[in-house]
Amino acid sequence: MSNYKNYFQDFIKENPELLHLAGHSHHYWPDITKLAIQEAYQDASKHVDLKWNKIFGEVVPKTQEIIAKIINFDHPEWIAFAPNTHELLCRVLSTFPMKKEIRILTSKHEFHSARRQLQRMAEEDQVTVDWVETSEIESKLKENQYDLIYLSHVFFDSGLVLEQETIKKIIELKNNALFLLDGYHSFCAIPVDIKAFQDDLFYLAGSYKYAQAGEGLCFMTVPKDCPLRPRNTGWFASFETLEEKTDQVAYSPNGNRFNGATRDFTPHYRFNKIWEMYESDQLSIADISEHIKELQNEFIKHLSSSAKAKLICTDVKKLGHFLTFQCQSHQEAKLLYEELLNEQILTDFRDTSLRFGFGMYLDSSDIQKLSHKIQKIPFFQ
Ligand SMILES: Cc1ncc(COP(=O)(O)O)c(C=O)c1O
Repeated sequence: MSNYKNYFQDFIKENPELLHLAGHSHHYWPDITKLAIQEAYQDASKHVDLKWNKIFGEVVPKTQEIIAKIINFDHPEWIAFAPNTHELLCRVLSTFPMKKEIRILTSKHEFHSARRQLQRMAEEDQVTVDWVETSEIESKLKENQYDLIYLSHVFFDSGLVLEQETIKKIIELKNNALFLLDGYHSFCAIPVDIKAFQDDLFYLAGSYKYAQAGEGLCFMTVPKDCPLRPRNTGWFASFETLEEKTDQVAYSPNGNRFNGATRDFTPHYRFNKIWEMYESDQLSIADISEHIKELQNEFIKHLSSSAKAKLICTDVKKLGHFLTFQCQSHQEAKLLYEELLNEQILTDFRDTSLRFGFGMYLDSSDIQKLSHKIQKIPFFQ
């Protein structure tokens, strides 16, 4: 089995006893991110105001190029950025006319960022939302015309992947609805190829999980030549027209039209350094994912049959990079999380789900240690 610990010496040295099973939450950062942060500082101190030439001329295009390659997207210039995916969702929602009631189809399993926002808008009748199970998506699309479809590529509460066939079906049935695919748990985790759908959906993801680059860098692919004009718009949405006075608010003829305003660009430096390093080491997402699947299978193999039965899914091909135990109650999940933390095992829990996330800095010896330690906890016996 491969071992990638060398890339993560700083985080490992700071936490020598910790078994970090929360890579799906906040992934360890590779050591090289220290150099990236230094480079951002050097550029700021050396170039002062002129640093923007480098940031917009080299740093951001490099991020776009890397992302486009990772997800097989043909139009890097049609990738928009924001510090978080929530901002991008709000910007897309603001493309609809203000007085229109927006009809939305989404799942019962979306992360809080989208769930809260849509629920809150529904309170004011700004949107009507159909919250469904994935098995109901097709029939809902046949019954209704929606304005927006928002679905996770890998669901945060189960780890299950939305199948490629389902994505295809949604695109066939969606008519004019905008389709947002939340790829936070798929990007840089499992191999993703959106080429066949690149003109039919917006793929959103970010940096602090499997992309390993910490907070502050989220992105959205925008279908090429998209003419939408978000009402929620900052001045980064049209650099091309800053010096001109236009009667109508102008937008960039590329993904920038979904950008907001001034933000920190250090996360771009981190992201670029990490993924350039892996590229030069010829390490692909498929390699990383294969390593994680081996770890997951090894962990499952060591589980008692009763513990195995509590997993939502044991077929790792259908999952992202975390395994989910279904607990009887939220309280049970919370107590288990605390019990595990007492044993220096960091997991996390959402409602009744207890999640074990496998980061690429784990190896087989960690899984053996983990399997041994959990044996004393009744839930796993
Ligand atoms: C599916 C999913 N989407 C998005 C996010 C992050 O949301 P935001 O970028 O709005 O903070 C998470 C974080 O855990 C997530 O699990």
